[in-house]
Order: sequence, then structure tokens, then C-alpha cells
Amino acid sequence: MDHFNSIIGQSPALDSLIRSAKIAASTDVTILIKGETGTGKEVLATAIQKASARANKKFITLNCAALPEGLIESELFGHKKGAFTGANSSTQGIFKAADGGTLFLDEINSLPLSIQGKLLRFLDSGECLPVGETTSYKVDVRIIAATNSDLNKQIAAGEFRQDLYFRLDVVPLELPPLAKRTEDIEHLVKHFLKLFSETHSIAAPQFSKPVLKALKAYKWPGNIRELRNLCERLSILLSGRVIELENLPSEFRATQQASNRPTGFTLPEMGLQMDTLEADLIFQALDRTKGNRSKSAKLLGLSRDTLLYRMHKHGFTAQ
Ligand SMILES: Nc1ncnc2c1ncn2[C@@H]1O[C@H](COP(=O)(O)OP(=O)(O)OP(=O)(O)O)[C@@H](O)[C@H]1O
Ligand SMILES: [Mg+2]
Repeated sequence: MDHFNSIIGQSPALDSLIRSAKIAASTDVTILIKGETGTGKEVLATAIQKASARANKKFITLNCAALPEGLIESELFGHKKGAFTGANSSTQGIFKAADGGTLFLDEINSLPLSIQGKLLRFLDSGECLPVGETTSYKVDVRIIAATNSDLNKQIAAGEFRQDLYFRLDVVPLELPPLAKRTEDIEHLVKHFLKLFSETHSIAAPQFSKPVLKALKAYKWPGNIRELRNLCERLSILLSGRVIELENLPSEFRATQQASNRPTGFTLPEMGLQMDTLEADLIFQALDRTKGNRSKSAKLLGLSRDTLLYRMHKHGFTAQ
């Protein structure tokens, strides 16, 4: 069984990433999955774990952004009874619980600096030190980490240790944003429409050609999660119908109209002053061409005479 089949898409970018992921899955190497929000980092981490030799062992996920700094160390490495106020009994920690298996450290970019050194120590020696203990223990845990922000920027800002980054980034896997793999959109739409028709027991809607074009022109800030949510909403609200452009939220129609226009220029929401815009564009053209009227007219798509007429109209003085 190919566990990577759950990752829908056939774009070259995704294809080569899956090839690397399959190789990495067959080893115990540390993996760092990079990608914007909603690109499928968790889906990929899960496929890697299922395809690995540790598939039948523990698979524990810790979202590093979900825990306050004061709790995360004991959550990861455990603590001794009485190590801090409220530590009424000792706990073993996630590393111990995941022994023999895989630990998915999601949103590793949010791991506090104070814990980053301890994670690095584990990656180097396999050793963990519970809070309040003096002796460490060894565990055999495979780490898959994920980040949705650029760790290099965080390193430059002093928020992430470079040595830990190098230690995690042994096999980097970067999921491309959806807008960079538009070939995958139709496959994903088909997959989600089928999925929601089955889960909600309803007839799947159909997407018209202009709708598919609009989906391909859209920027998808929420990536595949956003596409999935849109498919679910339309499946429920317009079950069995043909989805047309007007059924899409306004942000999709705006991109579509802009991409249909030859200039790509979008009229601002609050409108504009045509006269002021014309004068400004003439000023910019003259400035760029150092006052050359023939070149300025060409830049603006006007005849030289028309430009002279409009310059006069806007009160441009001869230079
Ligand atoms: N290639 C794919 N094929 C099918 N479904 C996908 C794919 N990639 C992502 N999804 C779906 O999109 C949603 C978001 O995926 P996932 O949670 O893995 O993203 P993420 O990168 O971890 O996002 P975040 O950074 O916000 O945590 C999920 O519902 C997931 O099932
Ligand atoms: Mg995630």
C-alpha cells in the first residue's frame, strides 16, 4: 500500500518532493517539513510515519505553539515530583512515551529558545533530562518537525538556534504553495467533491470552466485547507448544481476580472480621480524619459500630438 496516495496532486514540484519523502521515510533520518499554512505538512508527516519501519509504533504529535513556555520542557522531557509548584507527582514526558516510535514536532518555529538547546542535546545524544532530575535517560525516537515560517529569518532575528536548524534540516522537504502548483487544483477539487459527497451523502456539484479558471488565478493564502473548505461549503450549499462564477466568494471574481483585463490594473475599492491619475501618469512618463515627449507618448500608448494636448490640458509647462 502506498501511504503517499493520500497526498493528492501530480505537479512536478509535488512529485519530486514525494520521491524524496519516500526515500527519507525508509530511514530513521530527522526530517524538517517546510511550507506555508495549509500546504499539507501534517498530511506529509503522517504519510512518512506510516511508510516508515516505525509505522506500528507510537506516533505522537506535539504542537510547539500550543503550550506555554513554562510547561513545554516538562511536557517533552518529564519532571520529578516536587520539581516546581504543582508538580505533585513525577511524569515521564512525551519523549519517553514515544520511545521506539516517532515524534512530530509541529510548529517547531514556536519552540522557545530555552528548550531549543535541550532538543539539540537529544538529537546529538538521544538523551533527555527531566525537569528537576540530575540523571538523564536515553530514548530511541525519530523526529519529524514542521515549520510554517522561514526559520532563516528567525535565526537572523536571534529567535532560533542555527545549530538546531542544521541538525533538523538533514532532509528538508518543502511543500510548494498551492498558487505555485495550479496543475493540482483540478485533481484536488475532484478529490474533495467526491469526499464531501460521500461524507455528507449528497450529490456532488460540478464546477464550470470559468470557475476552474478563477480557482487557478487565485492566490490561495490558506492553500489546500482553503480550497478544501470552499469545496465543502459549495458541496453543501449547491449540492448537485453547476457552480458558476457568481457562486464564488467575491475575492475569486476580483482575481478573475483582473486577469481578464489586458492591463491587470484593478480599480481601487474607493474609486479614483481619472484626471489626477492621467496627470500623474504623464508626469511619470516624462520623468522616466527625462522629458522626451516622443518616448513619453510611446510609453503611454498615445500619439505625440495627443500627449502634447493632454500636457497642455493639465498645465504642464514646456521644459
Ligand atoms: N495534497 C493533499 N491532498 C489532499 N488533501 C490535502 C493535501 N494537502 C493538504 N490537504 C488537506 O488540507 C488541509 C490542511 O493540511 P495540513 O493540516 O496537513 O496543512 P499544514 O501544512 O499542516 O497547515 P498548518 O501550517 O496550518 O498547520 C487538511 O484538511 C488536509 O487533509
Ligand atoms: Mg499543520
